[in-house]
Amino acid sequence: MTDHRRELEETAQAIVADGRGILAADESNRTMGKRLDGIGVESTEETRRSFRELLFTTEGAEQYISGVILYDETIRQSNSDGTPFPVLMQEHDVIPGIKVDTGAKALAGSPEETVTEGLDGLRERLEEYYGLGARFAKWRAVIKIGEGLPSQYCLNVNAHALARYAALCQEQRIAPIVEPEVLMDGTHTIDTAAVVTRRTLHTVFNELCHQRIHFEGMLLKPNMVMPGYDSDEEASVDDVAERTLDVMYDMVPASVPGLVFLSGGQSDELATEHLQAMNARGPHPWTLSFSYGRALQAPPLKAWRGEEENVAAAQAAYLHRAKCNGAAARAEYSPELEQEYSAAA
Ligand code: 13P
Repeated sequence: MTDHRRELEETAQAIVADGRGILAADESNRTMGKRLDGIGVESTEETRRSFRELLFTTEGAEQYISGVILYDETIRQSNSDGTPFPVLMQEHDVIPGIKVDTGAKALAGSPEETVTEGLDGLRERLEEYYGLGARFAKWRAVIKIGEGLPSQYCLNVNAHALARYAALCQEQRIAPIVEPEVLMDGTHTIDTAAVVTRRTLHTVFNELCHQRIHFEGMLLKPNMVMPGYDSDEEASVDDVAERTLDVMYDMVPASVPGLVFLSGGQSDELATEHLQAMNARGPHPWTLSFSYGRALQAPPLKAWRGEEENVAAAQAAYLHRAKCNGAAARAEYSPELEQEYSAAA
């Protein structure tokens, strides 16, 4: 592993350098099916490919997007002119990444909770993905807040699996993104979200440490600390920024080069505002950037609706969100920047 350390560090640093962040385009075929269904488009290998091509060929997006997380089907697909997607990305100075977990499955003995699977054969799969161009990977654990939940049992098994995944990635020269997502669904308060996120990160970093993870060669993908979506509590942008930073400062070692937040179903603009508010309170020990799925893809999906004639509008919508999030990663986002696009549209 020692000789891989430099490569891992360079990859992790490159992803969060210069105010750039990650496009999470690693939806499984099932999740992508739901997204396409939402705009009335049938999910086929070709419609999934077309939408991803639209995103990956958006000119100028590479100013704000340093890496893209792909799904197994997508990393093997090509552009309309036959260029494999990972090659297309490398040509634009964008690093291809790959989701390697196989999903969250019911946890035996605590069926309301889940454990993320995908460790079997992972070493061999990582080797293949490296050959296909992937230089970083993602594994997502899902932690649910509810009556008596999460159990410590659920946190332990998910943290153990995350660390096993991260260790295998580092062995194979792939920088792991460690994603323990505390869901924002529920009626819980922001205090509860803070306590659970704190417990989760504590358990995860304990395992990462035991399993000899090189912190400089990984990235953390955390949730922001917010009240549950069905909670009566209101939290301002400043509240969310401060509570999230409190937890991160207590729980995340300064040697981790970057935190790339997930959006978790927040509105697109709110996800940007929260990142901006956190960076405005910097400098921090780690770079704070984004690894957004829905918050980057919802506007282009809506503009596209499966029609070739809408591709340019969809790309403009995606470029705008990428630009706003890139600005937030540099603490330069403003309502005026947000308005530029509405004014132009
Ligand atoms: P969202 O930003 O839509 O939460 O997706 C990010 C992601 O990759 C979740 O695993």
